[in-house]
Amino acid sequence: MIVILQKTAQDAANFTAQLVANALRDNPKSVLGLATGRTMEPVYERLIKLHKQEKLDFSKCTTFNLDEYVGVSPENPISYRATMQRLLFDHVNVRRAATHVPDGMAKDLAKAGEDYEKAIAKAGGIDFQLLGIGTDGHIGFNEPLSSFASLTREQVLTPVTFKQNAGLCEGKVPTRAMTMGVATILASRRAVMLVTGKKKAKLVAEVIEGPISAMLSASALHFHKDCVVVLDAEAAQELFDRVAKFSDHFETIRTELAKANEAVNGAVRSYESRIRPSGQKLQKLLGKDKELKKIEELPSGETLQ
Ligand code: GLP
Repeated sequence: MIVILQKTAQDAANFTAQLVANALRDNPKSVLGLATGRTMEPVYERLIKLHKQEKLDFSKCTTFNLDEYVGVSPENPISYRATMQRLLFDHVNVRRAATHVPDGMAKDLAKAGEDYEKAIAKAGGIDFQLLGIGTDGHIGFNEPLSSFASLTREQVLTPVTFKQNAGLCEGKVPTRAMTMGVATILASRRAVMLVTGKKKAKLVAEVIEGPISAMLSASALHFHKDCVVVLDAEAAQELFDRVAKFSDHFETIRTELAKANEAVNGAVRSYESRIRPSGQKLQKLLGKDKELKKIEELPSGETLQ
């Protein structure tokens, strides 16, 4: 697991969008796993901008969304199909037939889950999986105690999720959903989880620092072979204190985002070759002063090596 720190929520969203854009540019036929939630909105806004201003091409890609409410038709504005159309699909040149969202209206939900897995396999598997995190630690709608071996299936949502998603559902949160399983997510070639805001700081620290637990589905990402967690400064708050003590266990990059696009592009393009700071240097940096501002004072473009 690689943890990438960004200053603001917008920086973190831009960075995440840039990772998606790079994946698409490297392989226009990429199979993208997409997520919903408020955290993703600025990511999609950015991707639309990249499509309009820099001709980012979606015409050959295929997408699979993580989840969908059960019993909510695709036309219903609270459905994740409608949400994806509104936030991204209607604004880029993706083919409608190449966009997939689990079928929450299926009579046989178990079969719909199996069919979704088959469709993912037929497309060649997911190259790049975008993830947010629920306040109960869910990824997709894999609520606490989801098996790490789970595949796409029906899930009953928890009261914590009702509360979190109420604002997006006009107060009427459906009680069940179809979701890719934890194992479906772990099978993706790369997973990128974006978390922003201080409300999720404690949760993020638990996910990153463990223990790995079925009570926290996102902690399964430690088993992912190529997982990137992108955090803004607020979401990283709890982590910083602990990283200072356990920094040898972490791989962290700091990118200079003050110069926006160029800096992000440059850093993202080469970040894989630069993301392995020695524990010592990170320890030194964070040990001296745990404040984020110290890290922000690094000269422009410098990363932790
Ligand atoms: C929903 C989705 C999750 C997403 C979560 C985050 O529950 N099923 O995939 O991670 O929302 O929501 P937000 O970004 O609004 O905090």
